[in-house]
Amino acid sequence: MKAVYLFLVTFLALASSCAFASDPSPLQDFCVAINDTKTTGAVFVNGNFCKDPKLASANDFFFHGLKEANTSNRFGSTATLLTVNDIPGINTLGTTIARIDYAPRGLNPLHFHPRGSEILLVVEGTLFAGFVTSNPENRLFTKILNKGDVFVFPVGLIHFQLNVGKNKAVAVSGFSSQNPGRTDVANAVFGSNPSISQEVLTKGFQVDRNIIEYLQKQFQMYNSMIEMKHDSY
Ligand SMILES: *[C@@H]1O[C@H](CO)[C@@H](O)[C@H](O)[C@H]1NC(C)=O
Ligand SMILES: *[C@@H]1O[C@H](CO)[C@@H](O)[C@H](O)[C@H]1NC(C)=O
Repeated sequence: MKAVYLFLVTFLALASSCAFASDPSPLQDFCVAINDTKTTGAVFVNGNFCKDPKLASANDFFFHGLKEANTSNRFGSTATLLTVNDIPGINTLGTTIARIDYAPRGLNPLHFHPRGSEILLVVEGTLFAGFVTSNPENRLFTKILNKGDVFVFPVGLIHFQLNVGKNKAVAVSGFSSQNPGRTDVANAVFGSNPSISQEVLTKGFQVDRNIIEYLQKQFQMYNSMIEMKHDSY
């Protein structure tokens, strides 16, 4: 009897953790996000108020101009993500889209999305893309992607794309969350605010203090630069 109970509890725990592996079900066709809480029929769902569905229009589900971004930065790549502020109709739907532009040899640096899987389509150029699995394997999966190729980056895993072609490259990514989030590994570790203590970093990375200081200088500067242009992703 006890064993059956234990099995049931384990099963339910697993089942409920699966159910929450992505954005929750919207329970309705849509919930177009609005900021104006005084609008009649506004309901608060998933961090946003929903517009009265009768007042929704095609433009709530539309975005014009996911254009080529300026890639003149240290990495030579820029990812532009549409959020609920750009396209209010995605609210509660568990999806969004990004466009990534790469200069020749441009890198979308090591990062992960804590809340969403990503599926990337190469629209132009050639990318070298990869992700690393979690412990204990830390297995690296890589692929050369040409125009028309698609690659998946599972939720929470560290990944990158490098433009290995001679010309610029363009990719488009869909996400399994309206707000997948993004943590850049180097920025988070070496550019955190306030800084992570040097003892933690030197022991954690098994290197000398001067290497940590150098990396901190690089990424603290970088983080203060991206704060100024908050719309780039
Ligand atoms: C791109 O950004 C760089 C650096 O901010 C700037 O000098 C350059 O004029 C920009 N290029 C375009 C086409 O806007
Ligand atoms: C809501 O307000 C935020 C912050 O003021 C703004 O950036 C965003 O565009 C607004 N969203 C909508 C759907 O109006």
